[in-house]
Amino acid sequence: MKFSKLTIGIIGGTGLDQDSTILTNIKMVKAPETPYGQPSDSELVYGQIDNVDVYILGRHGRQHDISPSNVNYRANLWTLKQLGCTHVLATSACGSLKESIAPGHLGIMDQYIDRTNVRGGRSFYKVAHIPQPRPFDPTVQDILYKSANEAGYICHRALTAVCIEGPRFSTLAESRLYQSWGADLVNMTMVPEVQLANELGLIYATLALITDYDCWHSDELSVSVDLVTKTLRELSTKAKDVLVRSIKHMKQIDWTKHLENKAIIARNSIMVE
Ligand code: ADE
Repeated sequence: MKFSKLTIGIIGGTGLDQDSTILTNIKMVKAPETPYGQPSDSELVYGQIDNVDVYILGRHGRQHDISPSNVNYRANLWTLKQLGCTHVLATSACGSLKESIAPGHLGIMDQYIDRTNVRGGRSFYKVAHIPQPRPFDPTVQDILYKSANEAGYICHRALTAVCIEGPRFSTLAESRLYQSWGADLVNMTMVPEVQLANELGLIYATLALITDYDCWHSDELSVSVDLVTKTLRELSTKAKDVLVRSIKHMKQIDWTKHLENKAIIARNSIMVE
């Protein structure tokens, strides 16, 4: 039997935020109460893409005034789950640690290295140990990659990103250290978003928007807010196109078994609620 209620939550990172231009039948929906406080916005944009229900939540709030360490990741994920989301597609502005992954390109996350150190709210439970060998859903990774290729965008797959605490960018020594680890990207918002999504049994994947070469590249400008903002203008158009194409592909799949498996893994990871 085909899974009938595919519902997508889009967590829009910097550059995409709460952009609703890809949706039809748009309305604003009040965010339900959560046990974890307020999500990044008190209202989400609801709409449809090819008849699939979609909710968009800007990670950094409507005024873009919530910095990465202060995002209420638990409230965001809880809200999307409460609204019936089965899948979360996140976008994230990232710096590149490799020459071949250039600003303006897209990327698909497969792994992360957690270098955050002050953010709380990392679990919904008193004691839970969510497995993370493949934190980003492999099936959705394939769909995002296929969609980016279809559209003719340069897109890199199977990427590993280092998530730093921020709000500052990395030092040259840190950037080189992350390169020596073999990481591809650096960003500030993946953790704990991805692990919380997994705790809720949500199918989660991240589309990386490559905005800069961090600070290691001798011929290119070092990362700055100005550089990130400029590159994101072009990238957000690409990202929206990829998301729309991906949701159309996702609609063709029966996710029932997949969601059941995610729910079992999530349930089995809880030791004390
Ligand atoms: N987001 C965009 N570029 C970044 C960088 N170089 N480091 C951390 N986060 C980023």
